[in-house]
Amino acid sequence: MNRERMTAEALSVLEGNWLGRSTKPAPLLYPHQWSWDSAFIAIGHAGVRWDRASTELLTLFDAQWTSGLVPHIVFDDGPGDYWPSPDIWDSQACAAAPAEVATSGICQPPVHALAARRVFEARPDEAGRTFLSAIFEPLTAWHDYLHRERAIGGVLVEIWHPWESGMDNSPAWDAALTALAPRAEDIPCYVRVDKEVANAADRPSDADYDRYAFLLECLRRETYAPASPEAHPFRVRDVLFNSLLVAAERDLAWIADQLGGNGALARERADAVALEIDRSMWSDDLGMHVSYDAVADRQIPQPIGAGFAALLAQPSPMLTPRILETLEQEFLVPIGASGSVLPTVPVTDPNFEAGRYWRGPSWVQITWLVASGLDSVGSNLLADRLREGVLSLVAAEGFREYFEPITGKGRGSDRFSWTAALVLDIISPIRTD
Ligand code: SER
Repeated sequence: MNRERMTAEALSVLEGNWLGRSTKPAPLLYPHQWSWDSAFIAIGHAGVRWDRASTELLTLFDAQWTSGLVPHIVFDDGPGDYWPSPDIWDSQACAAAPAEVATSGICQPPVHALAARRVFEARPDEAGRTFLSAIFEPLTAWHDYLHRERAIGGVLVEIWHPWESGMDNSPAWDAALTALAPRAEDIPCYVRVDKEVANAADRPSDADYDRYAFLLECLRRETYAPASPEAHPFRVRDVLFNSLLVAAERDLAWIADQLGGNGALARERADAVALEIDRSMWSDDLGMHVSYDAVADRQIPQPIGAGFAALLAQPSPMLTPRILETLEQEFLVPIGASGSVLPTVPVTDPNFEAGRYWRGPSWVQITWLVASGLDSVGSNLLADRLREGVLSLVAAEGFREYFEPITGKGRGSDRFSWTAALVLDIISPIRTD
């Protein structure tokens, strides 16, 4: 597939997944609006269908809770089966949730300020400024929520469910999930719709799903705002989530500057989180940053590809050469003449499974973020290799949800929105200087 054809195909994938005011991540597996998917979709649409890009983000923030939480799913009224459905989340029973639309009660990584900045940069005129003014306060409230409700006893923010990382069955969560050991009677009954619309071998295990259901029920019982968050049984400071928060705060400060406001607080918060990422997430043994289990009070010694997103937080320059060495020597798999593929865990890792969701495959959005991080520390050639790798995978296999790193075989859902959106951005990037 040449680049012209790839652009046309990507636009057709996004058109097919358009719901009218937002874009579903995939035709069958994810039939509603998902939070971080929408941010990536807006990034891809910014340069080609600007109205859709701005509408996508505004629709998501229309469903923001009064606490500032941006729910990870905004349910669409249209057809489409998905578990957990709106009645399981029961957002309508939560005073902070919007009345007009059903949502989940948990969140996903904060990519939204990065998206909002790109949407404005694609169109820095009157319409762009109107969009930026409309999104600025909701974005600020979202970040405020994370610092206020999720930074328990420190500055790093916590996720309370593996779905909040976006990397559901990453081996990084195995020990924390095993430690939960829920009793059978504490696991709500559920039917896995995902295995009916996708290949079961590509999806998380039933034991994982038991724990997802158990944690959802723990949070639902407390209307997703636990009175004693310290007592919640799954509390993880995820390296990807926190690194994105640093980048998002810096972009929020930039947005404040554009609007003649004051970005000082956002900059201070970004610097404080970035310092703590280096202090408590750096693993000298592994030569990269890792996540932290706040329940067990220890680092999680599992190298994951998303750990290189720490580059987005601009780590200490003393660490950068070692990070790049780990990335090149432990992770990257060559593809084509000049591309590289970033797997979710090293292909030599004992937990590596080539085709199973977050336990091996390469994901386009993580690769795109790590490439942006590499750009930000001046490693542009390596960043280009990663982007080239994405184009090679998609050229051969189409707009798949994820790809086996060694064979390049496409897995998961087909016609996946963020794969299409980020290919558009890779082919014609919106520059942020
Ligand atoms: N990623 C989860 C799923 O597969 C929830 O967002 O449904």
